[in-house]
Amino acid sequence: MIFIDACKGKATKHTPIWLMRQAGRYLPQYRDLRASVGDFLALCKDSQKAAQATLQPISELDVDAAIIFSDILVLPLEMGMSLSFKPGIGPVFSEPINDLKALDKLSADKAIENLNYVYDALKITREQLSPDKALIGFCGAPWTLATYMVEGSGSKNYANVKKMLYSNPQLLHSMLRKITNALKGYISAQINAGADAIQIFDSWAGALEMNAYLEFAWSYISELCDYIRKNHPNTAIIVFPKGVGAFIENLQAGYDVLGISWDMPLKIAKDKMGAKYVLQGNLEPCRLYDTMAIEDGVDEILNIMRGKRHIFNLGHGILPDIPVKNARYLIDYVREKSAKIIAKAK
Ligand code: CP3
Repeated sequence: MIFIDACKGKATKHTPIWLMRQAGRYLPQYRDLRASVGDFLALCKDSQKAAQATLQPISELDVDAAIIFSDILVLPLEMGMSLSFKPGIGPVFSEPINDLKALDKLSADKAIENLNYVYDALKITREQLSPDKALIGFCGAPWTLATYMVEGSGSKNYANVKKMLYSNPQLLHSMLRKITNALKGYISAQINAGADAIQIFDSWAGALEMNAYLEFAWSYISELCDYIRKNHPNTAIIVFPKGVGAFIENLQAGYDVLGISWDMPLKIAKDKMGAKYVLQGNLEPCRLYDTMAIEDGVDEILNIMRGKRHIFNLGHGILPDIPVKNARYLIDYVREKSAKIIAKAK
């Protein structure tokens, strides 16, 4: 698997590529599949169809890795929170957590058990996926999950969870501890079901000042990395802390691949972290609206990375109105260009 080779820092014949949110609304076949079951959560819970959604970008784009079709928020859902996805608004928890009593009602063990539909989707996908393509399992980082659980939905200023952080840090730590324990079992079960790599999404990493981030977010990610390394030494570990460029050199831990969001200059990330970690990223997602913008962006990234210790990706998820043919153009262009750079360097 070229993707796993690259995660482990081995030389490959081209730079492997996949796209965050590659299974999703920009694909007409995804929209049909979702309509056939009703809504997004129903699709997540239907393992056969979730596997189908996972495989769509493989046949449509020929990316080097599939990411299991699910969502980071199924974990708090299955811990006992009530979740809905509202068109035009996004995810909403009807009863956010703001005290110990509410937290005590949530169960890590139940979540690990109830998430069977994700494990089944991974098994079905692995059976149908060609052996040279990697299968990525994923989860939200404890901080990002806690943020949704306390805010109840997407948030502009994260005031509720930050109020908890400063006025009742023990409560937030208790929540992060419980989430981290649930994630250990959830990640292990995903790997046992066939995931070759695990990506930990810390989408709201950029919401905290550095020391708060290190204490309330990174320490738990680091613990998860150690847990995976120890119990599943062959599994590639990818972390994606979005928007932390200003203090990226402090994000040391036992992972393989560091996802770089588009707001961070890749050259700086490479100078600071590239010797120790493989880097993933970081094309600005809106470049996909225009093929010239794709070429310029790819050229710049490949000229920095030179086909070494790099996995190509967007610097955040693909947007729903991107033309599929532009995504395909990106994949082909990266593969061709990177293969030339690598062949020339030999
Ligand atoms: O293709 C893939 O990447 C795999 C599936 C995947 C989804 N969500 C499917 C999805 C993954 C890896 C995620 C991760 C996720 N979910 C994150 C972390 C990555 C990031 O974008 O920062 C976050 C923060 C979420 C929470 C979430 N889920 C939000 C905020 C939303 C609404 C916004 C939106 O894009 O609609 C979702 C819904 C969601 N998750 C959709 C998909 C395909 C769209 C649902 C639909 O209408 O079909």
